[in-house]
Amino acid sequence: MKRVLSGIQPSGVLHIGNYFGMMEKMIRYQEESDLFAFIANYHAMTTVQDGELLAHNTLETAAAFLALGLDPEKCTFWVQSDVPEVQELTWILSTRTPMGLLERCHSYKDKVAKGLIPNHGLFAYPVLMTSDILLYQSDVVPVGRDQKQHLEVARDIAIKFNNQFGEETFTVPDAEIDDSLAVIPGIDGQKMSKSYGNTIEIFTTKKKLKKSVMGIVTDAAAVEDPKDPDTSNVFAIYSLFIGPEEREALRERFKAGGMGYGEVKKELFELIWERFEPNRERFDSLMANPDEIRDILAKGAAKARVAAEETITKVRRATGLIY
Ligand code: ADP
Ligand code: TRP
Repeated sequence: MKRVLSGIQPSGVLHIGNYFGMMEKMIRYQEESDLFAFIANYHAMTTVQDGELLAHNTLETAAAFLALGLDPEKCTFWVQSDVPEVQELTWILSTRTPMGLLERCHSYKDKVAKGLIPNHGLFAYPVLMTSDILLYQSDVVPVGRDQKQHLEVARDIAIKFNNQFGEETFTVPDAEIDDSLAVIPGIDGQKMSKSYGNTIEIFTTKKKLKKSVMGIVTDAAAVEDPKDPDTSNVFAIYSLFIGPEEREALRERFKAGGMGYGEVKKELFELIWERFEPNRERFDSLMANPDEIRDILAKGAAKARVAAEETITKVRRATGLIY
């Protein structure tokens, strides 16, 4: 069975862009692969520097995954920093990573261009990500397009290392980039992202959910006017929650006119609330009992550590750390 590995940073409240863009797919992988799923809290530290917030986000991200159906019996689910071997491997790989390789990374350059004052961690981010991937001998890493270059870095480092120390040192990972996965728009029509403040959160109060959905930006068409579904954020977001036939019917309603945006947003709000209703109770109960989450994560870390130990021992031996 292929080992599929994926990580998510606990850098904020999870939104439906995260769900449809990544979480749903990851949860499906537990049925058909040896899924290794982790919460990348070391990565999140490059931007989240309030300790209390990081700890809270870590628990909340774990609770969301568990509530949405990730089953710790079917996969290995842990928090990155609970297996500190990943840092040792990061250092070892760092000593073999040319500066130029990291200097070319768009993700780093983009953040700097946006005015973020970079720390060394942000620069070294792709090496830590490589370490996540190689430590667990991952075959496949499903990622969004924005992470494609980081996967190329991981492959590059793995191949060079294997050339020096033997092909069996690291599994060379394949990226899996799903081009069919649309970028989910936020309530303002830009990519939904916590950094743009335009999200619809998965687990929130009814009042807040309603506020976000009613806040979806529309054009100024009057109730009676025909509306273009293909340029409408309401249509794009609504489409995520319905099947193809219902989508066609919705498309016709848009085009026919006589339907107000307010009316359709109210329906959408109800639909989102109902969609996550079965998961909400589990989420709330986990958040009310964080020790239950910690216990699940500790067991996951113990499983992950078995795989990590095997790799790190091999690497220590190869690089002369065992003398
Ligand atoms: P954010 O942009 O809110 O900071 P992240 O960059 O932490 O989200 O993304 C975590 C995961 O969710 C990634 O796999 C990313 O591809 C996916 N994701 C985030 N936003 C969207 C979106 N608007 N559409 C599709 N996938 C998304
Ligand atoms: N950088 C990824 C993101 O922001 C998260 C991540 C960290 C990751 N380590 C990983 C993803 C290893 C896949 C494999 O989305």
